[in-house]
Amino acid sequence: MSKRLRIFATLPFLLVAPLVTSAAQYCSLRPPPGGSSLAAGGIQHTTNATDGSDVIASAWYPGWLATDFPPSSISWNRYNAMTFSFATTTPDVSTIALDDVSTQALPEFVSAAKNNVGSHFFQQKLDRPTILFQGVTALLSIGGWTGSQYYSTAVATSENRTAFVSAVLDLVSKYDLDGIDFDWEYPGKVGLPCNVVNPDDSNNFLLFLQELREQPAGKDLVLTAAVGIAPFVGPNQLPMDDVSDFSLVLDRIAIMAYDVWGSWSPSVGPNAPLDDSCASDQEGSAVSAVNAWTAANFPANITLGVAAYGHSFRVSPTAALNSTGSIILYPSFEKDSQPMGSADTPGDTSSDPCGDPNGVSGVFTFAGLVSGGFLDSDGTAASGIEYTFDSCSQTPFVYNESSQVMVSYDDATSFAAKGTFINAQGLLGFAVWDVTGDYNDILLDSLHEAMGIEQVCEAS
Ligand SMILES: *[C@@H]1O[C@H](CO)[C@@H](O)[C@H](O)[C@H]1NC(C)=O
Ligand SMILES: *[C@@H]1O[C@H](CO)[C@@H](O)[C@H](O)[C@H]1NC(C)=O
Ligand SMILES: *[C@@H]1O[C@H](CO)[C@@H](O)[C@H](O)[C@H]1NC(C)=O
Ligand SMILES: *[C@@H]1O[C@H](CO)[C@@H](O)[C@H](O)[C@H]1NC(C)=O
Ligand SMILES: *[C@@H]1O[C@H](CO)[C@@H](O)[C@H](O)[C@H]1NC(C)=O
Repeated sequence: MSKRLRIFATLPFLLVAPLVTSAAQYCSLRPPPGGSSLAAGGIQHTTNATDGSDVIASAWYPGWLATDFPPSSISWNRYNAMTFSFATTTPDVSTIALDDVSTQALPEFVSAAKNNVGSHFFQQKLDRPTILFQGVTALLSIGGWTGSQYYSTAVATSENRTAFVSAVLDLVSKYDLDGIDFDWEYPGKVGLPCNVVNPDDSNNFLLFLQELREQPAGKDLVLTAAVGIAPFVGPNQLPMDDVSDFSLVLDRIAIMAYDVWGSWSPSVGPNAPLDDSCASDQEGSAVSAVNAWTAANFPANITLGVAAYGHSFRVSPTAALNSTGSIILYPSFEKDSQPMGSADTPGDTSSDPCGDPNGVSGVFTFAGLVSGGFLDSDGTAASGIEYTFDSCSQTPFVYNESSQVMVSYDDATSFAAKGTFINAQGLLGFAVWDVTGDYNDILLDSLHEAMGIEQVCEAS
């Protein structure tokens, strides 16, 4: 009670009803009631999120960047869940690793989430008993592209699952976490080449999640999973027809509907296509991914993973531009001349867990496109930069003819389209990879506006 009052004292501007001694103040982020809102561009759309339940406004926080982006730099009051990335799997099932920077930053992250300036109460209204979280739900993600090497062994046997459950719950209690995000890339499928992979991974993962959920300390945890654009695969390596059992133990999944095209692709293409049903080469999209998970009986407990970054490609002017100087979609690019992205460190000689050099990723964050001169500070293309918006993928491309660099990315317009889609599908909300990529919250503002998200406070 005293804690609650202390929070109130710092937030008088949030109160919409007179505070009586016994009243609790609950604030949540949700689309306005009434079943419709105006999307950016004035398109009228309906939403199914009208039952007063909270929308999930979430992002991943890259803990390894904590020196440059301390937890205090997060716009905490625009989110109601934040996931610290990454703790990583190790050969010892009882040890889940955190690098030094992360170990130092995680306690600060959790306390910032729980006591953030502009803190609100977030009411989680899923099928389990209502839980009230003070501030922003603080989750820790285990895995990631380079941290999933030993997931398979951690869940391989009953004995290992029990040990892994204990290791996870130890982390929860040590860092006072509200939940855990499982970012296994990917069960039953090769991600990083040296990952351990077993045909029974998905089923073992489910057994592990069930055991975690059965523990007294696991019952009320927020459990999420970051997933690919296709449902978890079965022993035959094909997406399973029915993944509904996962929805009984997970609060939600975040579909990572990005990295669909990149340096590994045969041509330039959209990093995070909203749609691809209109494309000649259908590599996946938010639309097809939501359809696939829904068809496999996962309920709408889905957040759409959205990208505050893009991939760069070296493209010759003849391939990139038509005779009137406009960007041509899906041009070929020079594979052996990967441009350096804003996320790359010049002279980086580091290696991934398989011992392979990390090399040049070519990834530009949205903020990196601004600092790199592709975009102005309002997020639109700078003068001298060619811009096009692909009406099928509903994502933009920029091109600098002098440097021959083309970037496929997301901007305010594509984020608005994704926000409209999230509402129209009745999804739970969004998850941004990653929270440091935005510039002056241009992308986040666009999502909030398109989804009609507002902070609602009520006394109860
Ligand atoms: C169980 O975990 C241990 C490491 O703690 C590992 O050595 C062993 O291979 C795992 N079991 C299986 C079947 O993967
Ligand atoms: C989330 O999952 C639970 C359990 O399956 C279900 O009862 C609930 O309706 C789902 N919520 C949404 C928004 O689909
Ligand atoms: C070049 O592309 C633009 C945009 O797609 C288009 O409007 C224009 O007609 C094209 N020019 C030629 C010569 O094809
Ligand atoms: C385009 O690339 C050239 C050559 O690298 C660079 O000098 C210039 O600043 C870039 N233009 C913009 C608008 O960023
Ligand atoms: C809203 O939900 C109803 C029933 O679950 C469904 O039939 C309808 O298509 C949904 N509407 C939208 C816009 O998703």
